[in-house]
Amino acid sequence: MAAHDQSNGDSKLANGETTYFATNPRPASLDEHISSLAPFIADHVRKHSRVALVTSGGTTVPLENQTVRFIDNFSAGTRGATSAEYFLENGYAVIFLHRQFSLLPYSRHFSHSTNCFLDYMTTSSTGEVVIDGEYQAQMASVLQKYERAKREKMLLLLPFTSVNEYLWHLREIAMLMRPLGANGLFYLAAAVSDFFIPAERMVEHKIQSSEDFAHANHGTTSSTAQEERSPAAHMDGAKLVIDLDPVPKFLKQLVDVWSPKSMIVSFKLETDPSILAEKSRYALKKYSHDLVIGNMLNTRKHEVLFVSAAGGDQWIRVPTARRSKSVTAATMSEVRQATEMPLEIESLIVPEVARLHSEIISNGRSR
Ligand code: PMT
Repeated sequence: MAAHDQSNGDSKLANGETTYFATNPRPASLDEHISSLAPFIADHVRKHSRVALVTSGGTTVPLENQTVRFIDNFSAGTRGATSAEYFLENGYAVIFLHRQFSLLPYSRHFSHSTNCFLDYMTTSSTGEVVIDGEYQAQMASVLQKYERAKREKMLLLLPFTSVNEYLWHLREIAMLMRPLGANGLFYLAAAVSDFFIPAERMVEHKIQSSEDFAHANHGTTSSTAQEERSPAAHMDGAKLVIDLDPVPKFLKQLVDVWSPKSMIVSFKLETDPSILAEKSRYALKKYSHDLVIGNMLNTRKHEVLFVSAAGGDQWIRVPTARRSKSVTAATMSEVRQATEMPLEIESLIVPEVARLHSEIISNGRSR
């Protein structure tokens, strides 16, 4: 859709986009990331591969420009990292846009656990460091898949930390992915901040908590617009007061303008089960994309709700006997029943997403 064709609401959004990207700084890492993204995407355009952008982990909201304190969003990156592996298994090339130091595809099996990485190793009788026998088979199988993804140039890892870095990357990647046409897929599993501090209201230095140093908090916004808008985080006596702006929702821009031919999948996270379906349907209607995957904080590892214009509402569930003990120890009887190998829900989600993607590629979209 051309910018001049947009209705009032859309042009407001386009203006919001222009304002956001004109007033919030382009991340220093972006140019370097583009230099690996551009050949990666061009290679897969040439091969007619399907390419999934998987976003993963939580974005931060810095309170200071030279950041000591920040607000974080919940997400370990499990959904994204696990899904990325299944996309690779289903023949997709994957751009993995992730929160720095969150879970990564393949290494997730051995990181962020109660084991330290040294616990996977042992010293042989000749003094060499080797993988402990207990982990040999699992590690060999994961390593093979990881090496293959690297060898065949199917996986590109790109880190972000703040919500600003995330949004700049999302826009840039979306536009770079346009030549993929319908072969592009956006799988937006990252937990994106809804509120933030715009650059013009961000203080430059660490906010001083001691009243004795309160004078250092004055006149320290990083922007030249500091006279126009008051700093978003400041001390009021002994209290820290934070006044956040809404993060513009760019999903509509992504769907209509940045990457209109790709399949777009968003996630909806809720904690109240009574509103999950309604909120997911609302998001689908509002952004007119292809699929919303609704999930509840406490049950997200064993059930999700697919909401799409084409397929209506559809629950995907891991059978009780295949649920991982550590995640779903809801009742002891369920845990005892879990006699078979645990099944990751992403192994059910991703093939279903790929199937819907195939429908879009062969029949055109339904949105
Ligand atoms: O990593 P795990 O620990 O496994 O957790 C996975 C998860 C629960 C974080 C994941 O499955 C999930 O639900 N991610 C989306 C969380 C979220 O941001 O939900 P939301 O309702 O606030 O946003 C819905 C959608 O709008 C998201 O796809 C997001 O990309 C998008 N969004 C959100 C905020 C914003 N300002 N702009 C956006 O475009």
